Amino acid sequence: MQSSNFADGAAYVGGRFVPIQEAAIPVTDWGFTRSDAVYDVVHVFHAGFFRLDDHLDRFHRSMQARRLAPKENRVQIEEILHRCVALTGLRDSYVAMVALRGRPRIAGSRRPADCDNHFIAYALPWVDVISPEVQARGAHLWIAGVPRVPDACFDPTVKNYQWGDLTTGLLEAHDHGFDTAILCDAEGFVTEGPGFNVFIVKDGRVLTPDRGSLHGITRASVLELCLSLGIEAAVAPLPRALLEDADEVFLATTAGGVMPVARVGRRILGNDRPGPLSMQLKDAYWRKHEEGWHRTPVRVLAEERAGSL
Ligand SMILES: Cc1ncc(COP(=O)(O)O)c(C=O)c1O
Repeated sequence: MQSSNFADGAAYVGGRFVPIQEAAIPVTDWGFTRSDAVYDVVHVFHAGFFRLDDHLDRFHRSMQARRLAPKENRVQIEEILHRCVALTGLRDSYVAMVALRGRPRIAGSRRPADCDNHFIAYALPWVDVISPEVQARGAHLWIAGVPRVPDACFDPTVKNYQWGDLTTGLLEAHDHGFDTAILCDAEGFVTEGPGFNVFIVKDGRVLTPDRGSLHGITRASVLELCLSLGIEAAVAPLPRALLEDADEVFLATTAGGVMPVARVGRRILGNDRPGPLSMQLKDAYWRKHEEGWHRTPVRVLAEERAGSL
């Protein structure tokens, strides 16, 4: 099977499938020079995509918001994602899709409309944005000094590579010996962190911010789980003081799932371990995966299957 070449990852770029080490874009691509790109990430768990349609829907909304129109249509994009995973032979995978502005057709043009937009995708071995060891002990979360970029400047519901503020938060967190960071907006409301949404638990009630953050697919899954488990949950303004005074805190993302927090700044939550409600939701999230929740099996093409025999 081609997976020996592709075991470290498979990419689709320039209309071709290549091993991840060979995947590259031109240095003059505006997707690189201006972060003028949108993306999405879906995970594959035990050979099945999780909520693939939801990720494709969000990706298309992001492309429309930024007026990006690569030549591949939705059906083709879906096929490409299946093919990337199939080429790697991975059962658990991090799968990214990206639409980039590209380069201007007319030399020297500064008009985005003159650029040839293009689509790339890749599948990698599973990625956790917070390592499983840190998840098990509970992450230490730094409240960043840098504010989240205002929603009016860049719509945070469009999944994008404009990560300057999030990366500054991460640098601050590491400088202070913390695992990761959470950013507040200039008005002091909690938003999100580098690659995840945040939830707090207060008096048995689950809350997640209504602003400054991506409408995470994992966030939606957590809200669904709360509903089915009879846990009161709401999307609402979350002042920083509520985060600092929470009974429990957990983070949510495609690349890691439900990730409990044990410390917020210098404050230790509960017994310095993942809280009970966070663990209940984390366990339910993965148990439902085992049961095939929102699952689309990865299609393995006849040629790949034949090659593996
Ligand atoms: C900034 C940001 N917020 C939130 C999330 C979580 O979104 P999802 O659950 O759809 O992965 C991500 C995921 O990468 C992210 O980059």
